[in-house]
Amino acid sequence: MSTTLHSPYHLARSFASLDHLSGGRAGWNVVTSHDDHEAQNWGLDRLPDKKTRYDHADEVLEACSQLWETWDEDAVKVNRESGVFADPNAVHYRSYAGSSVWTRGGLTTPHSPQGRPVLMQAGASPRGLEFAARWAEVVFTIQSEPATMREFYGDLKERVRSVGRDPQHCLVFPSIEVLVGETEREAQEQAELLDSFRPDTGLDMVAIITGTDVSRLPLDTPFDQVPLGPDGPASQGFYDNLLGTSGSGRVRTLGEAANIMATNSQSPRLIGTADIIADQLQEQLESGCCDGFIITFALLPGDLIQFVERVVPELQKRGIYREEYAGSTFRENLQS
Ligand SMILES: Cc1cc2nc3c(=O)[nH]c(=O)nc-3n(C[C@H](O)[C@H](O)[C@H](O)COP(=O)(O)O)c2cc1C
Repeated sequence: MSTTLHSPYHLARSFASLDHLSGGRAGWNVVTSHDDHEAQNWGLDRLPDKKTRYDHADEVLEACSQLWETWDEDAVKVNRESGVFADPNAVHYRSYAGSSVWTRGGLTTPHSPQGRPVLMQAGASPRGLEFAARWAEVVFTIQSEPATMREFYGDLKERVRSVGRDPQHCLVFPSIEVLVGETEREAQEQAELLDSFRPDTGLDMVAIITGTDVSRLPLDTPFDQVPLGPDGPASQGFYDNLLGTSGSGRVRTLGEAANIMATNSQSPRLIGTADIIADQLQEQLESGCCDGFIITFALLPGDLIQFVERVVPELQKRGIYREEYAGSTFRENLQS
């Protein structure tokens, strides 16, 4: 949910409720929004610039952190005989005043199993990384090459350390798309089918990422010459991933970028049998440039079922995928 479009009281209360309802399995992908169309859904003409959005997001999270501390963990007594619902000494006013955020607590929702949701983040601009280093427990990233993955991982962990946090408490999960087949041929055919989709259906997504209208540009426009919005790319992470940062570039033209977006294949793809996919996931994990993965699928629910039925048992056989949960909350399981 977006810190730009929702108030901290609403966010804190929603995630506390979700954490209660899910028994401590709530996570929040903290986004600042990056598309004016989204702003217009909420009655605004346009989004504030990126720096303003991240400054505001810092304050929203400071306010939410206060609100989540309204109730001590043991405040609720629910004693029918004495008629006491909660110990008033264990419920506190928690207010917050920043320069763009103001809220008078406390929160009406009692302390939830995790206390606060697991905070996830996917910003990749320098300001986005600064924000992630301060708050994120999971960083979600798209990196198409091992070299950029390693660089991103080292940079982020160093940023986390420099703000006084334990780098192991900020896990980095690159997103990977998996196409698994019973044979390599079957997986390849699925990839070919996806790649045959018309590139112009992905132009809208490219417009969102670059922050400009690209509909009148020829599809063979070199991607590095596609103009950007006044604030640079609307999403640095997606843009860098398409352009590539190591010189070669993932795409050369606007048409290729649109094709990637049309097939929802922003993430690097692993194509093959369960064995081949497990080999590649294991290799990346053991190379020390990530802490796990966000697995994405082009076709749902089919590809997800294939992954669960074929790849997960193979990963379990190799001892790199859990067979049961170590804890009861999302945070406990992430850290185990
Ligand atoms: C891998 C990845 C996943 C993202 N997922 C979402 C999402 O689910 N919802 C959303 O609003 N923004 C999403 N974003 C956008 C980011 O949250 C962020 O707002 C955007 O990248 C702009 O910040 P930046 O320039 O610092 O990267 C995602 C970005 C990346 C790189």
